[in-house]
Amino acid sequence: MVANISASDWSTDRGEAWRDSMVPLEAMLAPVNAPLIEALDLDAPYRIADIGCGGGETSIAIARNAYPGSSVDGFDISPALIDAAMAKEAYGDVPIHFHVQDAGQPLKEAAQFDRLTSRFGIMFFPAADAAFANLAQWLKPGGRFGFAVWGPPSENPWMSSIRTILSNHIVVPTPEPGAPGPFRYQNADEFVSLLASIGFADVSSASWKDKLAIGGGMDATAAARFALTAFSIGQLLDQSDQITARAAFSELASFFSKHLIDGEVRMDAHVHIVTGAQPVE
Ligand SMILES: C[S@@+](CC[C@H](N)C(=O)[O-])C[C@H]1O[C@@H](n2cnc3c(N)ncnc32)[C@H](O)[C@@H]1O
Repeated sequence: MVANISASDWSTDRGEAWRDSMVPLEAMLAPVNAPLIEALDLDAPYRIADIGCGGGETSIAIARNAYPGSSVDGFDISPALIDAAMAKEAYGDVPIHFHVQDAGQPLKEAAQFDRLTSRFGIMFFPAADAAFANLAQWLKPGGRFGFAVWGPPSENPWMSSIRTILSNHIVVPTPEPGAPGPFRYQNADEFVSLLASIGFADVSSASWKDKLAIGGGMDATAAARFALTAFSIGQLLDQSDQITARAAFSELASFFSKHLIDGEVRMDAHVHIVTGAQPVE
């Protein structure tokens, strides 16, 4: 389960685990909102769908940046995360609605949206081709999408270094290439080809590289505790004895202490911002 995280995990345990660490996770990922929102070209009143919206932080950021008269709908398979999103503060003038919805399934009303977006919420479909073909039905002709997905693990040491350090202490399974999981679309060209094969037009990818603050801004000890709790890979330590778990934690905290900037652990990240359009009929 830890090697490959599927949509069914998200609808239950994984969604609840994300909700339990939602505040620091969303603070950590917040810098990705700006390039994603820019890629959406919110230059008119649009109906915008946020796919795999989780606790809704990106949906809210989009609403704050949307053209007057727009609306935002957040969709997620996890009831726990949709409850958390709905509990957030009022969002301003642009209305937001959150829905429990498997993005691999049709909506009651097709072709509703001018924009589709997702921050890391589209990598977990069990049948990706069918799921993206379904999402294509959500977009109006001429509508556009912008998706943020992680680049290769080697360029995302905020995650890959944890895997490397844990593997010094326990057996860490290697994810199957292309299986559901955070690095499923690490190869941007392959992802662009997949989306083009579905029938989307003008599909292309841009790189976003910057440092992310682990947990939104934590010292090395807090960052190690956060990473092993909030990232699913930390569950691998659940079966370990205390001495092994402590040794892995200490090594991670020590590693993080070498990546402090102004007292916060900050690590390189590489995100693909992949954009395209629904052809005009
Ligand atoms: C890594 S989290 C990202 C959450 C949110 N977009 C964010 O950036 O804070 C992945 C999200 O995708 C959702 N998800 C996974 N499979 C899904 C599916 N088939 N339909 C809808 N949501 C799904 C999960 O429940 C989870 O909220």
